[in-house]
Parts: sequence; C-alpha cells; structure tokens
Amino acid sequence: MKKYKIVIFSSLIALSIVACTTGSNAQKEIKVASSSDTEKVDGKALHKESCSKCHDSSVYTKADRKIKSLDSLEKRVRGCDANIGSNLEPEELKAISTFLNNEYYKF
Ligand code: HEC
Repeated sequence: MKKYKIVIFSSLIALSIVACTTGSNAQKEIKVASSSDTEKVDGKALHKESCSKCHDSSVYTKADRKIKSLDSLEKRVRGCDANIGSNLEPEELKAISTFLNNEYYKF
C-alpha cells in the first residue's frame, strides 16, 4: 500500500513538471493572441481606470490646454503613464490617445 502511494506521488510530480512546461507555452500563445487583438483595447475604459485620478477631462478642453498636436498628445499620454507607473502596453497608450483625440482634441 505504501509503495502504491509513492508511485502515485511520483507520477503526480512528473505530471506537474509536464504541466509547467506546457503551461509556459500556453502563456506565450495567449500573449500573442492578445497583442494581435489591438482592435479590442478599450481606450475609454482604460482612461477612466488609469487616468482620472488626478485630473478630470477639463484639462483636455480648457482654453489654455498645452497639447497642440496628435504627436504631442501621444507623448503626453506616454509621459503621464510613465509618471504614474501604470505600465500600460503601447497599444493601450495608443487606444487612450485615440480616445482623447476623438472625444476632446480632434486633431
Ligand atoms: C499623478 C497624477 C496624474 C495622473 C494619474 C495622470 N495625469 Fe495627466 N496630467 C497631470 C497633470 C498635473 C497635468 C497638467 C495639468 C494642467 O496642465 O493643468 C496633466 C496633463 C495631462 C494632459 C495634457 C492636457 C493639456 O492639453 O494641457 C494629458 C493629455 C494627460 N494629462 C493625459 C493623461 C493620461 C492619458 C493619463 C493616464 C495614463 C493621465 N494623464 C494620468 C497629472 C496626472
């Protein structure tokens, strides 16, 4: 009986090693799938989640707003992301810039 348990135990270990190796492959596949899926990144939701803590949307619409071009908007979004350490992916930053441009700046 004891021997039987040992056999089960060691095959469990073997199984979990296999599971770990295939697990990391599976993770890679998921990553590839999500980064090629940029259409689905929701800039509006991301903005609400990460960017509305310090300022509301009035900074984007006020008369003396600093952002004057799409290029500087993208730079500012990257800069704010770097300041707050939100570590958003490039396609997420792009989605936020696109949202801000469509909604407020309209360059
Ligand atoms: C830690 C606080 C903080 C957070 C969080 C933050 N910002 Fe800002 N942001 C600022 C400050 C301060 C300004 C300057 C406001 C001003 O000029 O009145 C600013 C200005 C901006 C401007 C320029 C507005 C203009 O036209 O003058 C943009 C665009 C912007 N932020 C985007 C973002 C985005 C996108 C995020 C999320 C990734 C974000 N911010 C998160 C602090 C923050």
